[in-house]
Amino acid sequence: MSGTIVPAIPANVTLAARLVADGRLVAFPTETVYGLGADATDERAVAAVFAAKDRPSFNPLIVHAADADAAFALVEAGPVARTLADRFWPGPLTLVCRRRESCPVALLASAGLDTIAVRVPDHPIALSLLRQAGTPIAAPSANRSGAVSPTTAAHVAQSLGQRVALILDGGPCRVGVESTVVDVCGPRPALLRPGGVSAEDLEAAIGPLAVAAVEGDAPRSPGMLARHYAPGRPVRLGVTQARPGEALLGFGDAGPCALNLSPAGDLGEAAANLFAMLRALDRPEVAAIAVSPIPETGLGRAINDRLRRAATPADDQT
Ligand code: TXA
Ligand code: MG
Repeated sequence: MSGTIVPAIPANVTLAARLVADGRLVAFPTETVYGLGADATDERAVAAVFAAKDRPSFNPLIVHAADADAAFALVEAGPVARTLADRFWPGPLTLVCRRRESCPVALLASAGLDTIAVRVPDHPIALSLLRQAGTPIAAPSANRSGAVSPTTAAHVAQSLGQRVALILDGGPCRVGVESTVVDVCGPRPALLRPGGVSAEDLEAAIGPLAVAAVEGDAPRSPGMLARHYAPGRPVRLGVTQARPGEALLGFGDAGPCALNLSPAGDLGEAAANLFAMLRALDRPEVAAIAVSPIPETGLGRAINDRLRRAATPADDQT
C-alpha cells in the first residue's frame, strides 16, 4: 500500500486518519498545495517527515488544525491573531504565534523555537482528516526538500513515492501556492512569506504589516540563527569521553551518559529526542553539554546541522 494514490472518498479519509494516529505519514490535499502530514504531537512521526523530505536542517513545520479553537488551544493568540483568523480561516493564511506552556506539539515540529506556525486549511478533505485524526497535523509541502510544491497527487508520488504511507487524491489544488505566513508574536505583525492571502487583503484587515527578510522558502527559519534554540550551556561535539562537569548526551553505544538520544543508534529516534534532551541538560550545574558523534547520513545531517548551530558561541551567531 505504501506510496499508493487513492481517491479521497470517505472510507480512504478515515483510513488516512487512522494511519496518522498510528504515527504514519499521509499526503493530503489542501487548497494551497499537498501536505505531507504527521501527528504533530508525535516526535517520531515528525522526525519521519524531515527524513522523508531530506530536509538538510529542521526548518519548522506548519501545524494544521480543524478550526480556530483547536489552533488557539496550542498557541497564544492576541487580538490581531484573532482578527486574522476570523477573517481568513479556513484559508491560506498561517499565523506564527507563541506556543502555550501546555502545548502538546513536538518540539521538533517547530525546530525548537518557542513559536508555532498554525493554520486552518480551507479544504473539505483536509478538514475531515483533521477531525477524524483528532490531533493537530504537522504538514510541510509534500515534496523533497528543494523541489517545487506539489499541487496534484501525481506530483507527490513522483517526489516522495514509497516514503509516504498513503496519498489521498483530491484533485488539483485550488490555490496552488503556499499559504501566506504572518508572524503575530511581535508588537507589529510581520509578513514572513507571501502566499495565498495577499498583503493588501491582510492590511485591509489589520493595517500596515512589517515585512521581514525572506530567504526563499525559509523565512526566519533555522537559517536565522538568533531565533534557533541554542542551549545556554556550551556544547561540545564529537565527544567520546566527557570531561569532569560535562553532561554527556550520548548516541548509540556511548557507555554511561546523562541522556542518550537513541541507545539503539536510531537516527529517527535521536531526531525526535534532540530538542527535548538539549533542554533537559541545559542546567546551571552542567559545565558543558558534550555530545557523542552522530553519523552524517540521513536524518543525521539535520541533527548535526542543528548541533553545530547549538555549539556556535552566542557572539558568533549572526
Ligand atoms: O500552504 C502551505 O502553507 C502548505 C500546506 C501543506 O499547508 N505548507 C507549507 O509548509 O508550505 P512548508 O513546510 O513547506 O513551509 C512552512 C513555512 C516555512 O517557510 C517555515 O520556515 C515557516 O513556514 N515556518 C513554520 N514554522 C515557523 C515558525 N515557528 N516561525 C517562523 N516561520 C515558520
Ligand atoms: Mg515547502
